Amino acid sequence: MKKAIQTVILGVTGSIAAYKACELTNLLKKAGFDVRVVLTKEAKEFVTALTMQTLSKNKVITDMFEAPEAWDPVHTSIAAQGDIILIAPATANIIAKLAAGICDDILTCAIFASDRPVLIAPAMNDKMYGHRITRDNIARLKKIGYHFIGPIKGHLACGCDAMGHIADTKDIIAEVKRLVK
Ligand SMILES: Cc1cc2nc3c(=O)[nH]c(=O)nc-3n(C[C@H](O)[C@H](O)[C@H](O)COP(=O)(O)O)c2cc1C
Repeated sequence: MKKAIQTVILGVTGSIAAYKACELTNLLKKAGFDVRVVLTKEAKEFVTALTMQTLSKNKVITDMFEAPEAWDPVHTSIAAQGDIILIAPATANIIAKLAAGICDDILTCAIFASDRPVLIAPAMNDKMYGHRITRDNIARLKKIGYHFIGPIKGHLACGCDAMGHIADTKDIIAEVKRLVK
């Protein structure tokens, strides 16, 4: 049976598009989701835990080795709370780590400790997105059932208009809703 309130684990990584995670959190909350935010160390260079905590109205997870409130480790307890894991924005780095099975931080460990759907919204420079290794990593993750949305063509941090802009927030939310149905 479906839970009355569904939980999105929102993983935010170190992309210039991290500010979009604020709007995403707001709109997911408005759509009735509980949102638990996980920030990578690099994501904290772009958005603060305080901002994400205030918007999500939940404690933000950033550190795997923080003493847990209960007995269970933070990465497995956060994984168990989610109906879906959304990584938005997703860097080339997180995509590469997932494709290689690297679990060296709270976000990668939580994703590997979960059996829920994973939706990835990449955002990066067009050359990074078009790089053969990024393309192979995405193909590998798709093959094992990870879902992707975007990127789209748009204005990038490098100043050019090209492929690599994060997908529209409303499209990401529509995909979340479709996957948790
Ligand atoms: C200003 C700035 C913007 C960046 N934007 C992106 C980006 O949009 N996409 C990306 O893949 N990497 C971007 N990076 C590089 C990542 O921050 C870097 O690869 C980092 O190690 C990612 O860590 P994470 O994936 O653990 O969050 C950016 C770096 C800087 C300094």
